[in-house]
Amino acid sequence: MNLQIDEQGRLRHFLSIDGLNRQLLTEILDTAESFAGVTEQTVKKVPLLRGKTIVNLFFEASTRTRTTFELAAKRLSADVLNINITQSSAVKGETLLDTLRNLEAMHVDMFVVRHSDSGAAHFIASHVAPHVRVINAGDGRHSHPTQAMLDMFTVRRVKGPDFGRLRVAIVGDILHSRVARSQIHALNLLNTGEVRVVAPATLIPAHAESLGVHVYHDLQAGIEGVDVIIMLRLQRERMQGALLPSEHEYYELFGLTNRKLAHAQPDVTVMHPGPINRGVEMDSEVADGPHSVILEQVTHGIAVRMAVMSLAMSSKKDKPE
Ligand code: CP
Repeated sequence: MNLQIDEQGRLRHFLSIDGLNRQLLTEILDTAESFAGVTEQTVKKVPLLRGKTIVNLFFEASTRTRTTFELAAKRLSADVLNINITQSSAVKGETLLDTLRNLEAMHVDMFVVRHSDSGAAHFIASHVAPHVRVINAGDGRHSHPTQAMLDMFTVRRVKGPDFGRLRVAIVGDILHSRVARSQIHALNLLNTGEVRVVAPATLIPAHAESLGVHVYHDLQAGIEGVDVIIMLRLQRERMQGALLPSEHEYYELFGLTNRKLAHAQPDVTVMHPGPINRGVEMDSEVADGPHSVILEQVTHGIAVRMAVMSLAMSSKKDKPE
């Protein structure tokens, strides 16, 4: 059974970009466009998920993802519970499945899950009751699909709908990045002209070319002539062993500065999923400069998460009485 897509081709759970199709990605982007207007109104609510209960289940730290999921659910008029895992019975040894079963017993309609284990959201989706929906808010190194969709939404808003004319470079710790994996799948599904990954050899997965990207180990060559640069954070918490000589040397070779940015297109767009390590992956003059859309990405996260939640919920069969 396809966990993500139901028999009618509608979004059921949103677990990864891999396994979806261009039509669904476009539907998410178009739906998000309609919600972007809602988030700019004085009264920012629509009644689409009134009476539904959504639980944010975050086993890992988050600023942007958790808060924008909460705002998105509230703007859809859902009731939202934020479970603080450090104060839940998980610390007393309760298993993930038991935590889920108990929350399900409270008539939850949707779980938004972030977990350090790759596959955690998939595991939860394969164990919830048929009327419950699961959205992946980031699992291990595997996937962060709503981040990729808000990034695609941002690219489409800034550069227009024709991804085929774009050259996009993803720069940094590709090896440990769930964001990069999801972005690569999304960019390829949307028929992006060229997708490049730029990093030291120690931070690129083996056989990266098989993902449909061109690999560069030199920043200037990698961003030469590109339309969009997506910078990534060094994922120190996921690194095992010394993969880098020092952060200072990394910044010298791969940190984005205005001088290096001159190699890209004059109207290049600079993105970063956050959190940024200023002076490591990029200079403040770039992060806060005229090419940066980093804070727009955060704003777009609300509309995109509204779209994903409302589409998944609209394919929902209500629990039998
Ligand atoms: N981009 C992202 O996932 O940020 P948070 O870890 O703050 O949610």
